[in-house]
Amino acid sequence: MKIFLDTANLEQIKEAASWGLLDGVTTNPTLVSKENMKFEDLIKKICSVVPGPVSVECVSTKAKDLIEEGRGLAKLADNVAVKIPICVEGLKATKVLSGEGIKINTTLIFSSNQALLAAKAGTAFVSPFIGRLDDISHEGMNLVDEIVAIFNNYGFETEIIVASIRHPLHVVEAALTGADIATIPFSVLDKMVKHPLTDIGMEKFLKDWSKVKR
Ligand code: G3P
Repeated sequence: MKIFLDTANLEQIKEAASWGLLDGVTTNPTLVSKENMKFEDLIKKICSVVPGPVSVECVSTKAKDLIEEGRGLAKLADNVAVKIPICVEGLKATKVLSGEGIKINTTLIFSSNQALLAAKAGTAFVSPFIGRLDDISHEGMNLVDEIVAIFNNYGFETEIIVASIRHPLHVVEAALTGADIATIPFSVLDKMVKHPLTDIGMEKFLKDWSKVKR
């Protein structure tokens, strides 16, 4: 499973990249708004640090404007993936932009039908938001299971990005579904490394090593 970082914070992105396991980054207007940097400069900088796709979200609402905005975002760097919220205008823009070779990440996916339509329009990625479904008492991971099955049934090449991840168990569940990618907040990535028994074990090994005659 590929690991993306769900942030626009450069320090977090540089840190995760230094671990050698970062495959991409997803941003959105909310994440970008938290950073004190000019939008285009920030995106260019992120794209220079990350080896894989960096999703950058459009804010237009009409297909014509989405197409223009998407083309502009794609010009910022070779590894920009243009994020477009699922809607009729977004599907029209996805068809045109993906036809031009621009990678689209269809976002705010909350149903399998939305994912199916986006895949048919040629999107490179779909982003089901599982945490937000859990928040309203729907099992978010069931949606990922359905999308995995549908894409496998028809051989869609669209990759599934499990998004709106809130805790390490979400990552385990995402991996068990066979989803292609999990986009993870840095705080969750950090927790994934840790286990109290590992800490206790390391402490004991170091203590015992100090007693070894050398
Ligand atoms: O990539 C965007 C998505 O992960 C949003 O997460 O926590 O705002 O629901 P959240």
